[in-house]
Amino acid sequence: MDTKTVFSLLYFAFLAANRTVVSGAPSFSIDYKNNCFQKDGKPFQYVSGSIHYSRIPHYYWKDRLLKMYMAGLNAVQIYVPWNFHEEKRGVYNFTGDRDLENFLDLANQTGLLVILRPGPYICAEWEMGGLPAWLLQKPNIVLRSADTDYLEAVSSWMAVLLPKMRRWLYTNGGNIITVQVENEYGSYYTCDYNYMRHLRTLFQFFLGDKTVLFTTDGNTDREMTCGTLEGMYATIDFGTDVNISQAFSRQRRFEPRGPLVNSEFYTGWLDHWGDQHAQVDTQKVSRMLGEMLSMGASVNMYMFEGGTNFGYWNGADHDNRFRSVVTSYDYNAPLSEAGDPTEKLLAIRDTISKFRDIPMGPMPPASPKMAYGFVTLTMVGNLSSLLDTLSPQGPVRSLYPLSFEEMKQYYGFMLYRTKLPRDLPEDTPLISPLNGVHDRAYVSVCGVFQGLLERDTTLVMNLTGKQGDQVDVLVENMGRVNFGSKINDFKGLLSNLILGKDVLTDWQIYRLDIDGAIASGWPQSGQRRSSPNPVRGPSDGPVFYQGTLPPNGLAWDTFLRLNEWTKGQVWINGVNLGRYWPKRGPQQTLYVPGPLLSPTQPNNITVLELERAPPHTRVLFMDRPQLNSTAGKTSQLQTTDRQT
Ligand SMILES: *[C@@H]1O[C@H](CO)[C@@H](O)[C@H](O)[C@H]1NC(C)=O
Ligand SMILES: *[C@@H]1O[C@H](CO)[C@@H](O)[C@H](O)[C@H]1NC(C)=O
Ligand SMILES: *[C@@H]1O[C@H](CO)[C@@H](O)[C@H](O)[C@H]1NC(C)=O
Ligand SMILES: *[C@@H]1O[C@H](CO)[C@@H](O)[C@H](O)[C@H]1NC(C)=O
Ligand SMILES: *[C@@H]1O[C@H](CO)[C@@H](O)[C@H](O)[C@H]1NC(C)=O
Ligand SMILES: *[C@@H]1O[C@H](CO)[C@@H](O)[C@H](O)[C@H]1NC(C)=O
Ligand SMILES: *[C@@H]1O[C@H](CO)[C@@H](O)[C@H](O)[C@H]1NC(C)=O
Repeated sequence: MDTKTVFSLLYFAFLAANRTVVSGAPSFSIDYKNNCFQKDGKPFQYVSGSIHYSRIPHYYWKDRLLKMYMAGLNAVQIYVPWNFHEEKRGVYNFTGDRDLENFLDLANQTGLLVILRPGPYICAEWEMGGLPAWLLQKPNIVLRSADTDYLEAVSSWMAVLLPKMRRWLYTNGGNIITVQVENEYGSYYTCDYNYMRHLRTLFQFFLGDKTVLFTTDGNTDREMTCGTLEGMYATIDFGTDVNISQAFSRQRRFEPRGPLVNSEFYTGWLDHWGDQHAQVDTQKVSRMLGEMLSMGASVNMYMFEGGTNFGYWNGADHDNRFRSVVTSYDYNAPLSEAGDPTEKLLAIRDTISKFRDIPMGPMPPASPKMAYGFVTLTMVGNLSSLLDTLSPQGPVRSLYPLSFEEMKQYYGFMLYRTKLPRDLPEDTPLISPLNGVHDRAYVSVCGVFQGLLERDTTLVMNLTGKQGDQVDVLVENMGRVNFGSKINDFKGLLSNLILGKDVLTDWQIYRLDIDGAIASGWPQSGQRRSSPNPVRGPSDGPVFYQGTLPPNGLAWDTFLRLNEWTKGQVWINGVNLGRYWPKRGPQQTLYVPGPLLSPTQPNNITVLELERAPPHTRVLFMDRPQLNSTAGKTSQLQTTDRQT
């Protein structure tokens, strides 16, 4: 080999080694020297907002992303809810509203980078913090730890998810700049470094060891100690109630160099049923955002666009008692639940414009809303009389009650049926001695509603009846706990009910596939025509109603108000809009995305009222939301908020 050949070989080796610099291939890393991120060799600061694709119908993704871009953001931060994609073990869904890659593509087309948070645990006020409830089939599983069954399920899921994410990494020509591992792990009791090491290995294996991995934790030493691990950049989260420099100095103790990052700067807050509607001050949000940006920090606003907990996807908290999250996830965020710009959005855009160029052009306006008016509903029948339709496979018999998890029905409602063991001429207490009703039980004897039991709040009610009378206990899963040590949140009747001196036994337990029946056209398609003026007693218990909203040529967004109804679930054209509970509030209206409605065909409305319908069984479609008041008596329930 002559000198010239050696030289040119060396030269090409040099070129290859420096390919990122020489060819200008995309790069993203942490610049420890200059305390910032580095993108394509230049200092980089992100101004990001959280948006959850699982809370927005896919036909609105582009609209929301464009508004975020026009507000001056250069990135969006998203969670991947595992249970949304793997509802049944080993069966994956990445289509329609679950088409994560379509969402990434739309963000990329809009010019937004992505901060990906694939969990496996995400919190997010989402059912079980994103973990699939089928994990609870091993009753003593230690979630979020190195428990072998848990790790096996996590590894199988990540082996499906993460390879799909590879081509979306910024360094591979996509838009994902960083990837979070777990979520606020330091706030969980296990503090299991083997678990975090396992995740780090898994993420590095599938995403390559050059991808910037990070962790996010609450702003305390304990959380930072248990949540962080070498090789994953430690970031923090905090809202408007803290001192910024003190908060970032805590991050500095764990990351002496590198960018300052607030991964969740709270623009608003969530509501539980019975709470006052949360509000976070606009001036405070925009002022503190400005302070953080002027320090050079990268900031993600949580939430920028909250969306809706459709169906049964809301989570719950359990501090001193169980508190379920409302259907709306408006969050008092800069874009409303319906994706409309708010004053908060404009204030934030003004702040951002002091630090970076805002895209030219006007902010897209609020989408048009329609007040379609009243629709009168008619009774379909009580739930107990509809079991042929709702539970075609019939009951499972069991001496003692079985949980939802044992019955392998994870969401919604299940019916427990037995008989009165003796005559009860006088009021006799029905007790849930171990607080085993998760979460609400609606009790009827011979079809007559007698009252309800509620987890942590109502553990006793009275029954009367005759020996052999049929007792129906409809149990509602109000959403699994998504935060703290109580996330192994089994549902159903978890312990025996005691009636007077008798333990109730010999149950028939019905899985209810209400959503399946409605998706296949029931009750509108059914032969069972309803009577227009049903005879009703003072208390009804669980009863279905139906009606149709006549088409008017438009399919605009609207808000459904069930004034004077008590509590239940509502569907439109087969889609489960979520829970309503105006008596407890604060949410009064349910968001109905326009594209759910047909401009040309009668729109099918189905309501399951669990307690008591109003004298006029009608619902109202309004042109504005109402999320902040409580109809009827205000709830006496105390709220004890804390940071999630
Ligand atoms: C997958 O999810 C989409 C969006 O929710 C839904 O329309 C579709 O029916 C699901 N597919 C299956 C096979 O469950
Ligand atoms: C993302 O967008 C950029 C710029 O338009 C484009 O070059 C790139 O191919 C896109 N990436 C993917 C994975 O679609
Ligand atoms: C935040 O804390 C720092 C240091 O403890 C203090 O100097 C500063 O005045 C505080 N800022 C605010 C807004 O209270
Ligand atoms: C429930 O429906 C069945 C069948 O229509 C009826 O016999 C029963 O009385 C109803 N119960 C109530 C409380 O309306
Ligand atoms: C049950 O009935 C008894 C006797 O009528 C009454 O004293 C008690 O308050 C009732 N309990 C409930 C929870 O309604
Ligand atoms: C309403 O239900 C009927 C009967 O199942 C069905 O034919 C019709 O298409 C439904 N309407 C819409 C808008 O889906
Ligand atoms: C409730 O919301 C409406 C509309 O968003 C607003 O006009 C009203 O002032 C709010 N009320 C309270 C008590 O916050």
